[in-house]
Amino acid sequence: MVAVLHHSLAETSAACQNIRHQGLSIGFVPTMGALHDGHGSLIARAASENDVVVVSDFVNPLQFGDANDLARYPRDLDGDVALAGRAGATIVCAPQVSELYPTWPAPPATMVTVGPLAEIFEGASRPGHFDGVATVVTKLHNAVTPTRVYYGEKDFQQLAVIRQITADLWNPVEIIGCTTLREKDGLAMSSRNVRLSPAARIAARGLSKALSEAGRMFRHNRAVTGEALSAHMARTVLAGGDLVTLDYAVVVDASTFVEVSGPVDLSTARCLITAIVGGVRLLDNADLSFQLPDETSTSP
Ligand code: PAJ
Repeated sequence: MVAVLHHSLAETSAACQNIRHQGLSIGFVPTMGALHDGHGSLIARAASENDVVVVSDFVNPLQFGDANDLARYPRDLDGDVALAGRAGATIVCAPQVSELYPTWPAPPATMVTVGPLAEIFEGASRPGHFDGVATVVTKLHNAVTPTRVYYGEKDFQQLAVIRQITADLWNPVEIIGCTTLREKDGLAMSSRNVRLSPAARIAARGLSKALSEAGRMFRHNRAVTGEALSAHMARTVLAGGDLVTLDYAVVVDASTFVEVSGPVDLSTARCLITAIVGGVRLLDNADLSFQLPDETSTSP
């Protein structure tokens, strides 16, 4: 399938109004472009569950605290349109910053501010980040009027923030969380991975390895504490050496994001890891049933 490229959100919004009037469902996949197969898996799922699939491709300056990080964010619109089309997208919308934020670089007058959930972990390390995400996501949902929107569990806290804003603001969309696609060695696919040097790429394996080992520790000892799991995950990530700075490695309750102390509950625990590897910020997370394929036969 070949996706149609729109350069303006107004054009996409008008097309979506038409599509809704025909009684067709719209699956929406918001992205910042530099698409990889992880994004492709969201688009393919949206295509399997909806009549029409819209993908937004917009590097949202409002969610970057660090101007350098924004400037270095990878971009490849031609590649994105091709990948999105192959995965089943109908429309790719790549709007200009001036359309979404006419006053830019001054921030928009109206911002969506999320409460305490946006102030911990990623929110603590990147102040204002989730307000930027919440603001752009609200605009995009309003313009596209999707039936269902697809977000990756890869950004687990972002998914929770988006569930919160859509519930709080009574946005009538269904939010669908999708599993994380990984490289063969376990590294979670990310647009930022292209910035990893060969040495950093090897060190980056520590994140998924740590999640897998946490699962293994738990299967071996169901009484293991959140503290012990966190400490082991931190050691595993830091074994990557000087290239690695750990931001956090924690076990939290998947809905409240409160850190687990004492014994963990398999049905509610989520392990979250963020580390800066060779200058690249990497996020990963999993529940305690997670296991890397090459560790299935390893005994604890
Ligand atoms: P971006 O990082 O481009 O991610 C777009 C969507 O793809 C997100 O929902 C993200 O969780 C999902 N995704 C990323 N890597 C994935 C993987 N390996 N497997 C499955 N899904 C994956 O997240 C953003 O953009 C932005 O913050 C956005 C929501 C678009 C707002 O600007």
